[in-house]
Amino acid sequence: MTSVLAQPFQARSIRESFPALSVQVNGKPLIYFDNAATTQKPLQVIDRMNRYYREENANVHRGIHTLSQVATDRYEAVRKQISSFIGAESDESVVFTSGATEGINLVAHGFLQPRLKAGDVILLSGMEHHSNIVPWQLAAERTGATIRVIPVTDRGELDLESLPQLLNGPVKLVSVVHMSNTLGTVNPVKEIIRLAHQVGAAVLVDAAQSLPHFRLNVQTLGCDFLVASGHKVFGPTGTGFLYGKPELLKETQPFHGGGNMIRTVTFEKTTWNDPPFRFEAGTPNIAGGLGLGAAIEFMETLDWQAVHEYEQSLLRQTTAVLRDFPGVRIIGEAAEKGPVVSFVMEGAHASDLGTLLDQEGIAIRTGHHCTQPLMKRFGVPATARVSLTFYNTPEEVDQLGRSLRKVSELMG
Ligand code: ALA
Repeated sequence: MTSVLAQPFQARSIRESFPALSVQVNGKPLIYFDNAATTQKPLQVIDRMNRYYREENANVHRGIHTLSQVATDRYEAVRKQISSFIGAESDESVVFTSGATEGINLVAHGFLQPRLKAGDVILLSGMEHHSNIVPWQLAAERTGATIRVIPVTDRGELDLESLPQLLNGPVKLVSVVHMSNTLGTVNPVKEIIRLAHQVGAAVLVDAAQSLPHFRLNVQTLGCDFLVASGHKVFGPTGTGFLYGKPELLKETQPFHGGGNMIRTVTFEKTTWNDPPFRFEAGTPNIAGGLGLGAAIEFMETLDWQAVHEYEQSLLRQTTAVLRDFPGVRIIGEAAEKGPVVSFVMEGAHASDLGTLLDQEGIAIRTGHHCTQPLMKRFGVPATARVSLTFYNTPEEVDQLGRSLRKVSELMG
């Protein structure tokens, strides 16, 4: 199959900023189709972290010496950058975390659990990542609250007709993924937030997978909380952020205790610092935070309309390659999708497919993608998943088609 792209975007020149895209794997040029697991890093991010360790290394929020002040100012500047990138109402709405998972745990244990009582309801969706299920289960088990689940249709969309009924009763919080890591489905979170607010429920949006593909504005969405991971937006691992409405963060209890999150400490009683510092105990991942700032700066240089059109074109091309393939079933064919395609192939275990494609230099993820309930919903133990981003090319997708043919002959 040949490329159907009318316009090549700047994928080729953008690729030059990503050194890892030039490596060879098993003697073949790497084709990196595992962007939903983690994205590659541009030089700007790698260099920024290096510069911190080479020239600026000092702790933040603690020292009066010059280097510490510089590190603090630059680290805090990243908070401002994130705040403006997501359209937050104030910089204090942004909490540095180690990733989306930590953000969800913070809200589950610091915000929700203290206000839950037996019989209260937490509403999730059937396409959540385990990180957006387990923290709520822990809070529910400790309080006697229950969990309800928005069902997923055969196409891989949320069954929104069931929402009014699911929102009926003491629903305290709705937590929903913006873009599914397994199906690629983009959920109508704005509408879900509107309906949840009508019954007084707070809403958390898991934007870990959507933020690399779409520009978001938390105030336009109207969400109460939003989480994302730095390493999925071309930044370092171990970084991320939680956005929370200022008035809700003020009511949120600390999640981790330690230095920097306190105002006063005595052995009798400790008082808390204000948000966001209340939630940032201990020395943070300073180099990572600065790297995340560089990743955001990089993303701000992109033409997002062009990125979107290009990624959608890659998605259509990949879907066509796989749909035409004998014995392949695509899992998740929602009308609104990001560039993720999960599939199963008759007679081939997903992990065998992944191993054989790896021999061709093609990196995909196989398994349950930390979404076991979704696997059960579709009656499969695992899928093979191709997840793309703007530095992928139509030629790489063509190569996937050729390699799949070779692999299926080998297996057949
Ligand atoms: N949640 C990441 C993925 O989907 C790790 O691969």
